[in-house]
Amino acid sequence: MTALRHVPAEVVAARALAKASKGSSLKGYLEKSYERLGIPDSLRPVIVALVSNVARRWMLLAKALGYPYERPRASFKFWLSLVVAYQALFRKQKPSKLSWAFKEFPKRDYVDLLRSSPEDFLRDLIPEERDRVYLSVPKWAWEDIKKITDPKEYVLSLDERKHFWVRIRKEGAEAELRRLGYEVEESPLPDVVKLRGPMRWLVRSKLAPSKVVIMELASATIAHLTKGRVLDLTSAPGGKALHARDLGRLVIANDLDPKRFAFGGLERVRSDARLPPFRKAFDALVLDPDCTGLGRLHSPETRIWVSMTSKHKMAEYQRQLIRSALDLLRKGSRIIYSTCTVTWEENEGHAGLFEGLEPVEVPYALPGRLPGWRRYLPNVHGTIGFTFVAYEL
Ligand SMILES: C[S@@+](CC[C@H](N)C(=O)[O-])C[C@H]1O[C@@H](n2cnc3c(N)ncnc32)[C@H](O)[C@@H]1O
Repeated sequence: MTALRHVPAEVVAARALAKASKGSSLKGYLEKSYERLGIPDSLRPVIVALVSNVARRWMLLAKALGYPYERPRASFKFWLSLVVAYQALFRKQKPSKLSWAFKEFPKRDYVDLLRSSPEDFLRDLIPEERDRVYLSVPKWAWEDIKKITDPKEYVLSLDERKHFWVRIRKEGAEAELRRLGYEVEESPLPDVVKLRGPMRWLVRSKLAPSKVVIMELASATIAHLTKGRVLDLTSAPGGKALHARDLGRLVIANDLDPKRFAFGGLERVRSDARLPPFRKAFDALVLDPDCTGLGRLHSPETRIWVSMTSKHKMAEYQRQLIRSALDLLRKGSRIIYSTCTVTWEENEGHAGLFEGLEPVEVPYALPGRLPGWRRYLPNVHGTIGFTFVAYEL
């Protein structure tokens, strides 16, 4: 791997992974590092791939090095060892390319890893554990996914996805996407298409966000369930709120952290949705709170964070938000609740709070575990894992 002004890519990747283990955003950290170190555009995808591949195999790599492997350490040294081990075990990089690393990482261990295969470190485990450790998913998350679907298929579908979804905002955008080189496929939603081809074509074009918005099919379902005057209680970066506005709704986009908004053109409010400063003046409330993110396990951050997340803490916070949102309902209005996760505790486990409301029949995705609840699954729909429900008063 090429050295960047004397800072090897492995070091940049390990620093980013250590920051992510403390809760910082990987993307934000990498962007700052690119600027500070003058990393050329051509090398950025290499670093992103390294970070992503190490995050997706971190448990196996930790096991190969004899470390405990259910929770990552937040130290740079820990992540640098994993990155170097990855270069040996998966990339079979010649030791001469990593000579700088052997001050910290014994060269003898590197050579041993070069001669080994990932399977060598999994043999002592039962077959299901082999899959789990190879894919680097913590036990609780694996077990929760297993209650719904095959966890190996679920995680592989996220990791190996070759398509992405976009929402069409302007007529004619589909033809422009085809001209960029994409294979365009319809979706169950009238304004969402599936694209096959690299995302960078779209990023480099001038199409997003004025003509199309990169948006998961699952997330795009929510705005279609809204009506009339909409209050999105936890709305940043604003994908669902903007969609609802594009569908002609009158939208208020509320969030505790307005810095997270990524789209213009929204009527924004900053407030804590647990103490919302609103009246019962809305036809639809959208509540899409922070969650454990098991639907986004392909993201390197989620893969690391999920090991340290407590679904019970998340669920308690969600309960507070739901209770406050319910106070804003009036006769005939509805609440649409969604998460990008699949745990019972963060989804159907909240159903008791909606007692007295009617679940709305929804024609999208698969039935969840209780009436009205629906679920998108990566291995069935090619989307993120996503759970949602609409209830009406
Ligand atoms: C999953 S994100 C929402 C994504 C958004 N629905 C979209 O489609 O772009 C959850 C959001 O909840 C916000 N949030 C967390 N606690 C909150 C609170 N007490 N009140 C309002 N917003 C909150 C976070 O800042 C975050 O932006």
